[in-house]
Amino acid sequence: MVFGATFKIYNSKIVNNQDKLQQLIDLRVKARQGGGEKRIDTQHQKGKYTARERLEMLLDEGSFEEYDMFVTHRSHDFGMEDKVFLSDGVITGHGTIDGRIVYVFSQDFTVFGGSLSETFAQKICKVMDQAMKVGAPIIGINDSGGARIQEGVKSLAGYAEIFQRNIMASGVIPQISAIFGPCAGGAVYSPALTDVVIMSDKTSYMFVTGPKVTKTVTGEAISEEDLGGATVHATKSGVAHFRADDEDEGIMLIRKMMEYFPQNNLEDPPTTECHDPIERKEDTLNEIIPDSTSEPYDVKDIIYSIVDDQEFLEFHRHFAKNITVGFAKFNGQPVGIVANQPNFLAGVLDIDASRKAARFVRLCDSFNIPIITLVDVPGFLPGSTQEYGGIIIHGAKLLFAYGEATVPKITITLRKSYGGAHDVMGSKQLRGDINYAWPTAEIAVMGPKGAIEVLEGRKIKEFSDPEAAAKYAEEKEAEYRNMFANPYQAARYGYIDDVIEPRNTRFRIIRALQTLATKKDSLPAKKHGNIPL
Ligand code: HXC
Repeated sequence: MVFGATFKIYNSKIVNNQDKLQQLIDLRVKARQGGGEKRIDTQHQKGKYTARERLEMLLDEGSFEEYDMFVTHRSHDFGMEDKVFLSDGVITGHGTIDGRIVYVFSQDFTVFGGSLSETFAQKICKVMDQAMKVGAPIIGINDSGGARIQEGVKSLAGYAEIFQRNIMASGVIPQISAIFGPCAGGAVYSPALTDVVIMSDKTSYMFVTGPKVTKTVTGEAISEEDLGGATVHATKSGVAHFRADDEDEGIMLIRKMMEYFPQNNLEDPPTTECHDPIERKEDTLNEIIPDSTSEPYDVKDIIYSIVDDQEFLEFHRHFAKNITVGFAKFNGQPVGIVANQPNFLAGVLDIDASRKAARFVRLCDSFNIPIITLVDVPGFLPGSTQEYGGIIIHGAKLLFAYGEATVPKITITLRKSYGGAHDVMGSKQLRGDINYAWPTAEIAVMGPKGAIEVLEGRKIKEFSDPEAAAKYAEEKEAEYRNMFANPYQAARYGYIDDVIEPRNTRFRIIRALQTLATKKDSLPAKKHGNIPL
């Protein structure tokens, strides 16, 4: 018999209450040992915590209440009746984070490699169902070898039960996934269905098919890390919203994130007392936009200087860096910020940036988090790679997300806002509630250079002297810039509600949020929209 082998719960020798109590204590001790000391040591040697240690770190001290500690698998194949572990490889229950209830499950790699059995899945489904009933977030910590091979098809059914619950919970309660070990095969789809995915660097990976199958099917030789490590998913695929240096940072991120989420879609996000003066003026903002419209600057400098206490929880920091998204607070009220980033690819909208921002806008809208949009966008990225990749569809996602969102939407145009990208980025016509512009804003169909090429191209070509041609083009560009590259054309039509002094931005946003606190907006009755996926 191996460690944790079958035990008799109904020991006939137990007759008095004292023995019964002792039996309970013994069983609890045994359950807490998971797969045993040796496997726990191996887990630690890999730089990983155990499932229970992770929950201890995640939840407020003493708040964890465990369910189903006495659950064991019911498998008899492959000698499984002799290998029985209390809890069956997943720790489930509820606790609190900063006093607010959350439901949790934490996969225990020391028991059958954290693999998913029928009963394992039932335990997860039970906490998911309770989280839905109570209206509280669900946090899953993944560290698993996938389907329990000895249980075959029952494991597959178990995954599907979880997927279905992820789908039903989407947009109802916040769902957060931490990946602190293997997560492979169909198992990846549960985290992928959740709102936030955090991966620990070097100790986690996610892929649909691993290196061995990849080699067999395609001939490509690739390591686990290069195929599905945290860096890959945080930079290339966008599957991971956060790459944490280690599990400690990953857990800290989850706790931090909960400060911005409401418990469910029927509640507002929690507000906190704000010690940062709401009327704080930032004089540096009056100078932050470079005189040359093509010169980059870091939009995060603007974000940090306007939000409470310079705190910005950035999502997808390493993915599609031409757009910046994340949570912050204004006067203690959580908001989502979406900002074009001129420091990277001039802040252009491409496929990845559109996907990233669209998902974030929908996350905010699902959970009643107002959206602040900071615009400096030269347009959509041109070229066959983008067109073949479906920039039309992906750009439409962002358009759809903004137009559909009913939360308060405040848009500040900082500099460029050209063409279709202008419409997309929280414009008035996509139900932007309050649209401000800085005096440096340029809201037009296109930039001066492109416009003059179209309007004056033929005439410019007729010049025999290239210098004269260049001078003519320059003059025309200046004329265009004076006429169109400013915020006042848009303001004339009421597309911009006011042109504001940059240093007052924080105060103007806070007042706009206060004004919109009672905003009500809705969508026509429908089953659901058909967002261009
Ligand atoms: C049962 C498993 C298991 C599994 C690991 N173990 N995976 N038991 N079912 N899927 C057990 C091992 O037998 C071992 O038991 C212990 O867990 C630790 O495993 P090791 O291999 O020693 O650990 P390590 O070297 O760290 O390797 C981890 C691993 C590897 C990379 C995850 O175990 C592995 O490749 N496992 C199989 C992965 C897999 O193919 N899963 C099915 C995917 S398909 P002992 O007793 O020795 O401690 C799938 C379909 C889902 O998941 C579809 C949903 C729609």
